[in-house]
Amino acid sequence: MKKITKAVFPVAGLGTRFLPATKASPKEMLPVVDKPLIQYAVEEALAAGMTELIFITGRNKRSIEDHFDKAYELETELEYKNKQKLLEIVQGILPPSATCIYIRQAQALGLGHAVLCAKPVVGDEPFAVILADDLIDGEPGAMEQMVSLYESTRSSVLGVETVAPEETGSYGIVEVDTLAGGLQRVSSIVEKPRPEEAPSNLAVVGRYILTPRIFDKLQATTPGAGGEIQLTDGIAALMKDETVLALPFAGTRYDCGSKIGYLKATISYGLKHHEVADELSAYLRHLAETR
Ligand code: UTP
Repeated sequence: MKKITKAVFPVAGLGTRFLPATKASPKEMLPVVDKPLIQYAVEEALAAGMTELIFITGRNKRSIEDHFDKAYELETELEYKNKQKLLEIVQGILPPSATCIYIRQAQALGLGHAVLCAKPVVGDEPFAVILADDLIDGEPGAMEQMVSLYESTRSSVLGVETVAPEETGSYGIVEVDTLAGGLQRVSSIVEKPRPEEAPSNLAVVGRYILTPRIFDKLQATTPGAGGEIQLTDGIAALMKDETVLALPFAGTRYDCGSKIGYLKATISYGLKHHEVADELSAYLRHLAETR
């Protein structure tokens, strides 16, 4: 059986919720403790067995390419100063088995359009889509859990999570039927519905495994909510031909495209980081006592 080896990272969005930080630098490069969001996303894909990393980039995204490239001057300097540990960190960002491919999305015409830009490289294979601003802390990773479900069903899989009813307007929302064996089949999907119109409060959160038929559907999709080509509309069309499953993955998700989600992620990851955990924990206790 053909394994999923290709992961698409759409990173061409404007990141308006994080201005001014995202005026000149990509939100995917915002660090959580000491690693940029995009590196966490890539690590999740690698852990799920993917080796071809396809970034859909746009203007102001050069630093993402630089992050995954060799850094000659820096590496020479670290070597010269005998900073072996740091050198290992810099050189270990990607394993030798991984290949990076960059595709420019000339205009930010929506997530569906960004995914369609990957078609020439993905071809006729199932593939993953990971939105780096949804940072998911889980062991095994969310994508690894989704790959297991794909391998046993060969169906497209959407990573889902229950959100507060008042938050449906920020997500693609699905309705599901439970099949034999407890599988959840998506019966409808709608982009950013108002709470009173939402079919449920089960939200798609930045993780997808899609069969290649999605490309035909996206090609036929006209701009929807917000004048953008929505991935949600492509998936709604795909569901008419194929089973699409929802997986409520195990793990904690942080919406790092929002300020509060990013702050929560920084604190949670900081409290687990060997260098800063104790001091951060003491500082948070001190703040709580003195506020
Ligand atoms: P968002 O809806 O979070 O949009 O996109 P955004 O522009 O990144 O951020 P805000 O809402 O303005 O703050 C979801 C994902 O789709 C990508 C984004 O990079 C993000 O990972 N995207 C979106 C593209 O790659 N291209 C697009 O045209 C739109």
